[in-house]
Amino acid sequence: MSVTVRVPAKVNVQLAVGAARPDGFHDLANVFLAVGLHDEVTVTPSAGGLRVTCEGSDAAEVPLDRTNLAARAALALAERYGRDADVHLHITKDIPVAGGMAGGSADGAGALLACDALWGTGASRQELLDICAELGSDVPFALVGGAALGTGRGERLTELEVGGTFHWVFAMARRGLSTPAVFREFDRLAEGRDIPEPVAAQPLLDALAKGDAVALAASVSNDLQPAALSLFPELSDTLAVGRAAGALTALVSGSGPTTAFLAADAESAAEAASVLRASGTCRTVRTAAGPVPGATVLDDA
Ligand code: C5P
Repeated sequence: MSVTVRVPAKVNVQLAVGAARPDGFHDLANVFLAVGLHDEVTVTPSAGGLRVTCEGSDAAEVPLDRTNLAARAALALAERYGRDADVHLHITKDIPVAGGMAGGSADGAGALLACDALWGTGASRQELLDICAELGSDVPFALVGGAALGTGRGERLTELEVGGTFHWVFAMARRGLSTPAVFREFDRLAEGRDIPEPVAAQPLLDALAKGDAVALAASVSNDLQPAALSLFPELSDTLAVGRAAGALTALVSGSGPTTAFLAADAESAAEAASVLRASGTCRTVRTAAGPVPGATVLDDA
């Protein structure tokens, strides 16, 4: 018997970052949108103890030890329910690794939901969300999906209404960026400046609620973008190519280095994607729409 869970990637349509807290984290106003790029996590009982395997184009970069968020999720749930994490976790990876699209977080949420279903723990949604929050700031959103405002370090979620489908193009870069390094660079660039409290922008929330891509494009923002560009200046070229190719807006996704382009519709997204592909400024280009549901157990597993 095995259980497979499908989990989406995210793009941050707003990422407002506050000053560094005493615990090293930053308070955020983080507006997440789940988009249709997915990883799948399959869990199967394994007599030989916990094991992680991975397939997909980025598989070589995925750690298979206990630092993998999927392994940590299985261990956390097993510990809470007093059982051994004797499972094989297989990850089919389509979300870029170290890309700012929460691929590792998706695998954590996926493994948690899959182990929960396999073991029949009866854990409440809130218990699962609490475990997700312990695993990482972006993990609760991977479970919930759709669109949500994350406050605190991003883990406290308020679900948001979305009145339509948004069409995106994502350009994956030739190397990754470390999230802690990008936050450190944010702190360095912020030195000596007053950092305001992060708050969600009302025009952005209204644009999401209306499903209005033009209004959303006018209000997206990412406070980590200057830090990501400082560490990875070539990303400016990719952003410029996407803008020139007709995207309504271009921004770095989360801590990067994936760049995200909002298009007016599916056709414009496909056109911008082919221009980006031909530009040679990125590794791969994908289109994806959102919002999509969060972690979901697949019926035919
Ligand atoms: O929570 P997560 O493990 O994803 O965070 C990875 C790193 O990103 C943290 O160790 C921290 O350096 C940085 N971070 C932060 N403030 C947040 C979220 C993450 O400084 N709100």
